[in-house]
Amino acid sequence: MKHISLTIDGIEVITTPGRTILEAAAEAGIRIPTLCYDPRLEPYGSCRVCLVEVEGQGRGFLPACATPADEDMVVRTDTEKLRGIRRTIIELLLSDHPNDCMTCESAGNCELQDLAYEYGVRKPRFQGEQHHHEAIVDNPIIERDYNKCVLCGRCVRICREVQGVGVYDFANRGFEAVPGTPYNRPLTETPCEFCGQCVSTCPTGAIVSIPSKGKGRSWQVRKVRTTCAYCGCGCQIDLHVRDGRIVDVSSPLMVGPGEGNHCAKGRYGYGFVHHSDRLTTPLVRKEGELVPATWEEALGLVADRISKAVKEQGPDSVAFLASARCTNEENYLFQKLARAVVGTNNVDHCARL
Ligand code: FES
Repeated sequence: MKHISLTIDGIEVITTPGRTILEAAAEAGIRIPTLCYDPRLEPYGSCRVCLVEVEGQGRGFLPACATPADEDMVVRTDTEKLRGIRRTIIELLLSDHPNDCMTCESAGNCELQDLAYEYGVRKPRFQGEQHHHEAIVDNPIIERDYNKCVLCGRCVRICREVQGVGVYDFANRGFEAVPGTPYNRPLTETPCEFCGQCVSTCPTGAIVSIPSKGKGRSWQVRKVRTTCAYCGCGCQIDLHVRDGRIVDVSSPLMVGPGEGNHCAKGRYGYGFVHHSDRLTTPLVRKEGELVPATWEEALGLVADRISKAVKEQGPDSVAFLASARCTNEENYLFQKLARAVVGTNNVDHCARL
């Protein structure tokens, strides 16, 4: 494959054609700050936090997230001028922001807060009109607070580009613009699947998960990487654990088959883990009552009953119903057991029903 070579902050960087300056810099270990960027989404270039200087481009600056890297480019990412521009953008955003980090659900996990910290913005210079939206709680899963929206469009884009649903779009214009639902309908009256992708991409606390609200700050939880067990895709997820209980689920970006994307089950279907009705041992019916049993006892009983049925009424007297929550390999073995050991083709799968 053809490669291109450019210079970023004095370092020669070799990358593949089609990469943006941001991606080429990341490959070389050079971090350029971003706000509207999410690697799961198409380049957008709206926040201008990632502006860089490119030699030969006159007095203008280019958004690193949306500008393709090119042969012999000479890029500077961290000059005094660029830091000044970024500081001004952050100050403008914070001039119409609640600045309630003490109680904000996203504190510690907020890209705007991180930028303010990095660029030393304690108090915005600019005074002006501020939004006073009411937080929208029209469903039990997702809360929206447009006072904290920075209009990056990430929620609009992830819903459309990744989920293919398109629940949000920008409503109104200028100062009144918000990422709204059609005719301001509640999310429950839109095609929303409550996958939480908008929550996962929101860089501030404008869109948050209600089930995890107040359950633990980002620094109070331990993230445990695991594989989602809801289907055989094998998406990687991080369980947020506090005091031995799962309080939230997120997905590591660009890792595993999900690449940081969730479905509704993977993100919000963790309530069963600590539910009082959850079965934690097999149950065997004895004298009409279901009683807890060991796996040896339960599986022994199943094997006996299957053998008896096959002996008395032939192999087609039994059927095997597999689960979508098993891996493909487990389901393969399951049908093999049915066909090769028991001798029946009566095999079905709950995902087909
Ligand atoms: Fe590049 Fe927003 S991150 S313009």
